[in-house]
Amino acid sequence: MVKKVVAALSLSFLVTHVSWAWSPEQPLEVKLGQQTQSFTLKTLLAEAPEQSFTVFNDAYHKKQTYDGVRLVDILRLAGVDINQVNEITFQCADGYRAVMNIDILKKYPDAVISYRQKGAVGGDFDPIVEGKKIADPSPFYLVWPQQETYGLFPWPHQVVGIDVAMDDSTYAHLKPAADTSASVQRGYELFKGACLACHSINLTGGVIGPELNIPMNITEYRDAEYLKKFIRNPDSFRARSRMTGLPDLTDQNIEDAISYLEYMKSHKQLEKLK
Ligand code: HEC
Repeated sequence: MVKKVVAALSLSFLVTHVSWAWSPEQPLEVKLGQQTQSFTLKTLLAEAPEQSFTVFNDAYHKKQTYDGVRLVDILRLAGVDINQVNEITFQCADGYRAVMNIDILKKYPDAVISYRQKGAVGGDFDPIVEGKKIADPSPFYLVWPQQETYGLFPWPHQVVGIDVAMDDSTYAHLKPAADTSASVQRGYELFKGACLACHSINLTGGVIGPELNIPMNITEYRDAEYLKKFIRNPDSFRARSRMTGLPDLTDQNIEDAISYLEYMKSHKQLEKLK
């Protein structure tokens, strides 16, 4: 559930507006194993240089200028050595979880956790309109100065936390055994990259879409033909489905994802339901 706070924007440059916005005190939580550290905007800006850049943002179909702090600087402040990490997960206020392979950040270290879009009216960011949905990207929005990364790397908005997996532990129980078929292996990689942001398996993953393994695995109550069609085009079943269509998936991708889901049927962690 999106928890919003009505805050009379006290920041002098925005004055006069009383609008729906995040409290400037909203912290960014960085979770490292069992340990959680909270950073407020003030603490971030006291420790790391502010960055600013302009990029054509496909979500708005126009150029926007962002102020923020580099993600690598935030991780450094939290004591994370990115050479010891495999992936990080962005936790978003609406339940979205975006997993990102750390190699992406090593290659593009100038990704910024933005707290403000220059020239935004009535809030820190202009709202993003996706079909009938309107989302306020605050409190934090991950943006990249390279326009071509849009759709390729995560650009999560409403970021409230960053989960750093020091090893594969978070996803270890979702990973198929090494001797499973190539289709299951590919399906796992695809699922992690394209589906886990919204869906959980054994309650690990996002909460926008339904859990797909426990207590019943989706392949136990939906047949393969239905699954193929649904994954290809959710809107053809339910108007306004919150599952976005994924037009770039090949038939093979979808079959792999279904093989992986089928495989997980015999790897339920039912104890998690207690
Ligand atoms: C943006 C979030 C999002 C992403 C990404 C996403 N889903 Fe979904 N998914 C949903 C939601 C929400 C539903 C619930 C149904 C609805 O709203 O129509 C759903 C439903 C489903 C269902 C259940 C259909 C049923 O009839 O019960 C399956 C299976 C599924 N998704 C598979 C996938 C797979 C496989 C992927 C990755 C290739 C994926 N989803 C990616 C949000 C998402």
